[in-house]
Amino acid sequence: MLSTPAPDRRFQTKTSPEGKVDQTAELAGKHLLLGLTGGIACYKIAELTRLLTKAGATVQIAMTEAATQFITPVTMQALSGRPVYTSQWDARVPNNMPHIDLSREADAIVIAPASTDFIAKLAHGLCDDLLSTLCIARDCPLLVVPAMNRQMWQNAATQRNVATLRGDGVEVLGPDSGPQACGEIGDGRMLEPTATFEAICAFFQPKILRGRRVLITAGPTFEPLDPVRGITNRSSGKMGFSLARAAAQAGADVHLVAGPVALETPWGVYREDVQTAQQMYDAVMHASPDTDIFIAVAAVADWRVDHVSEHKIKKSADEKLPTFSFVENPDILAAVAKLPNPPYCVGFAAESGDLDLHGEEKRVRKNVPLLIGNLGPLTFGLDDNEVVLFEASGKTCLPRADKKLLARTLIGEIAKRAPRGGSILS
Ligand code: C5P
Repeated sequence: MLSTPAPDRRFQTKTSPEGKVDQTAELAGKHLLLGLTGGIACYKIAELTRLLTKAGATVQIAMTEAATQFITPVTMQALSGRPVYTSQWDARVPNNMPHIDLSREADAIVIAPASTDFIAKLAHGLCDDLLSTLCIARDCPLLVVPAMNRQMWQNAATQRNVATLRGDGVEVLGPDSGPQACGEIGDGRMLEPTATFEAICAFFQPKILRGRRVLITAGPTFEPLDPVRGITNRSSGKMGFSLARAAAQAGADVHLVAGPVALETPWGVYREDVQTAQQMYDAVMHASPDTDIFIAVAAVADWRVDHVSEHKIKKSADEKLPTFSFVENPDILAAVAKLPNPPYCVGFAAESGDLDLHGEEKRVRKNVPLLIGNLGPLTFGLDDNEVVLFEASGKTCLPRADKKLLARTLIGEIAKRAPRGGSILS
């Protein structure tokens, strides 16, 4: 008899959480069962729980006996705001079957930290405590975040077990490499809480850009006048970095060319730092042939001085002001759009007024199929933004939203429009 394939559970939310949840939060409505096993990395789960709940997720903690040696259920209860379960025989669950009840309400089970022993148990289907029984009784995806000594990680049995889990469709996040609690250095460290959080958020995103190569410019450029001074544009880089994050979460291979900004590289993104427009142009031109979608978000300086002073320009005694002569920087977006076989090109425009006029005019002038406009000075550095999409068929206004969520919407809009299987002539 043919069975219907199970729907992909990642993109559905099973239960709505109790209490008020900010529906714009990244993990709003998601219910996670977070299982702790024995390991010093348990301390990282306090921060991870905080990040998950702050992002709107309901976090139900279950701990093995060994985990309670490293962090107390009291701490985890306070941080998750829910009772913590450690025993299979917990009478607080009305039907006395916590291993069924707790997994049924979860959209995903995350085991963090996952010890060598627990990974072995999962791989072999053993269930001799609440957490392992919960995992085997689950009807939702399972994510495992290993944490162990490097020799334990490299051990052939562990590697076999991890391969078995992957083969069973379990998502293995990490491990990281670096100094370990035991003093040794190598693979096996648990991912940092922020990286684990990012990987969990990514897991829940539909992979609408899987297999696509996305090139993004972000931030300002800095054009030196002398060794200490220069001219730049106002740009925090937040929108470009958020787009890079959203594209990576959607499964794309992301190359981010960033001007000088103090932002963390999004999880899974390849970042190349540049200073000047010319450096940004060179980096983009080099990467363009391997690109399916180019998103130009950078606020590129239009001009640079034709001669950068080798030494700091001094104030002159006669109070004569220095003069500079400028040359135009290359227009990176227009140059990529002009390539014989261009990627799908998306431009951004920050205008101080008459967005409708300038947005469409700029789209046509740069010869790109899609231009995303905003009233720049009003949104500089803010965490939210309101944009308008300009394309040949007309304009579409999107409601004001947090830049991270807006980025997700924009990546959805871009994915819908960017043709698959080869580039287009805009
Ligand atoms: O002309 P304007 O700077 O307003 O155009 C904005 C769009 O063009 C943005 O997508 C920006 O990243 C891109 N641009 C560029 N190279 C330049 C100037 C702008 O790629 N030199």
